[in-house]
Amino acid sequence: MLDKYKNSVVYQIYIKSFCDSNGDGIGDLNGIRSKLPYIASLGVKYIWITPFFCSPMVDNGYDVADYRNVNPMFGTMADCEALIKEADALGIGLMFDMVFNHTSSRHEWFKRALAGEKEYMDYYIFRDGDKDTPPSEWTAAFGTGAWDYVPSLGKWYLHLFAPEQPDLNWENPKVREELKNVIRFWKDKGVKGFRFDVLNLISKPASLTEPKTGSGPRFCKDGPHVHEFIRELVTDTGIEDMITVGEMSSTTLENCIKYSDPARHELSMCFNFHHLKVDYKDGDKFSLMPPDLKLLRNYFAEWQEGMAASDGWSAVFWCNHDQPRIVSRFGDEGQYWKESAKMLGTFVHFLRGTPYIYQGEELGMTNAHYTSIEQYDDVEAKNYYKILLERGQSEAEALNVLAQRARDNSRTPMQWNAGKFAGFSEGGAWLSIPDNYTSINAEAEDSDPDSVLNYYRELVRLRKEHPVIAEGRIKFLDTGCDDVLAYEREGNGEHIVVICNFSGEERTAKGLEFQGKMLIGNWKGSHKMLKPYEAVVMLVK
Ligand code: GLC
Ligand code: CA
Repeated sequence: MLDKYKNSVVYQIYIKSFCDSNGDGIGDLNGIRSKLPYIASLGVKYIWITPFFCSPMVDNGYDVADYRNVNPMFGTMADCEALIKEADALGIGLMFDMVFNHTSSRHEWFKRALAGEKEYMDYYIFRDGDKDTPPSEWTAAFGTGAWDYVPSLGKWYLHLFAPEQPDLNWENPKVREELKNVIRFWKDKGVKGFRFDVLNLISKPASLTEPKTGSGPRFCKDGPHVHEFIRELVTDTGIEDMITVGEMSSTTLENCIKYSDPARHELSMCFNFHHLKVDYKDGDKFSLMPPDLKLLRNYFAEWQEGMAASDGWSAVFWCNHDQPRIVSRFGDEGQYWKESAKMLGTFVHFLRGTPYIYQGEELGMTNAHYTSIEQYDDVEAKNYYKILLERGQSEAEALNVLAQRARDNSRTPMQWNAGKFAGFSEGGAWLSIPDNYTSINAEAEDSDPDSVLNYYRELVRLRKEHPVIAEGRIKFLDTGCDDVLAYEREGNGEHIVVICNFSGEERTAKGLEFQGKMLIGNWKGSHKMLKPYEAVVMLVK
């Protein structure tokens, strides 16, 4: 039997920016409740909601101070329970976001650790040391060092992200037990699945001081006990049959197969990010380069075919709350805005894996186009702005980099209509809204049969209609052009071919001699001309 998540599509909600029900400028749980019919109209089966638990919001909720309580800025436990129930009534399961690699520095456990309670110090990763010499020169993800000093203890603690996000010590069985209880708590409330934040960083290497310098997260990825810890977390809490997805940072194909092979009882699927680094110059997120489409094609061919060969399963996606908007990035915001938004959606939705749609992607929402550092909110953007200036860039250059790479590009409020605050709120918006909301918005697109929104609805519907999309084998095809990517899916007596032009020019793809019924676009047997950003999908006879 096909696992239920395989023919499902997941919708991701960044709660702070989705819908504000009480006019304070911040999205909330009741806002999500009011938009459930809209989400249901997309045909998705699950909603992943980013963390709304008690948090000082240094990293917008990815710094959790209490895993079992709702942050008052997002609503109450009663709102949360109502949301679970109402989604359930529409046949939509909720997936909550478990941030288990670290807590907030305001979490009770860390406070007690700072007070010198031995039991809680062992929940985190402390090392002795002189106040001027950290245990190593590792860097953390947002541009600081990875160790912070606590004068009252005479010790350093490890944080792979912001200093306010101390890493948990998973080697301690008590920590693992506490986290299992968090899962049990939400499972009992009726949650249908979980997304696990940076899950492949939880098992730290034996030495945290060798090598001396470099990226902390890199050294901690896919660590020695990671598979064992995940299996224990999942099996002890009885969530093996639920949809579970791990966010895996800089991982390998071999590890992703292991994480998602059903026989190993770890996760249903994983996110990895290699395809979203093909425009990082020298691997640096803050150095600009146009996307290398050959690299993109090779990545998909290797991972899609590799996962299929070994019973692994992927979460497939372009967008989330950490990535710039895909249409601004690999598509075209101008003349071919609509074509490129549709083509990019097509490419992902026919892949082998479970597609994730990030709020606003289904409308073709674009980057934020901020022109001043004051417009940014994200801790990473603010830190890197300083770093880029220190590297000798002018303010204009640094702002240009952020305009393309900052995470706030995808965190702007959801564009619901052409009214005040784009229909996101009646009172304001915590992050400024791009001007294009007057034309790119859900209300306008809902009534336009040719809109990006209605196209995404069709993509979700096609997956349900043709089992080959969820179950079939996949093979990447040679097209003779680096910027035309094509693949075929086969199985259950069906055969589908997908051809996508990633360029803003006409292309003639070679060697693709297929005939059949068009599911998307127009592909006349003899002249195989693709228009700029065109996607064609054919059911081969
Ligand atoms: C993940 C989240 C990101 C967060 C980080 C630290 O990558 O998606 O938003 O900043 O983990 O928790
Ligand atoms: Ca609100």
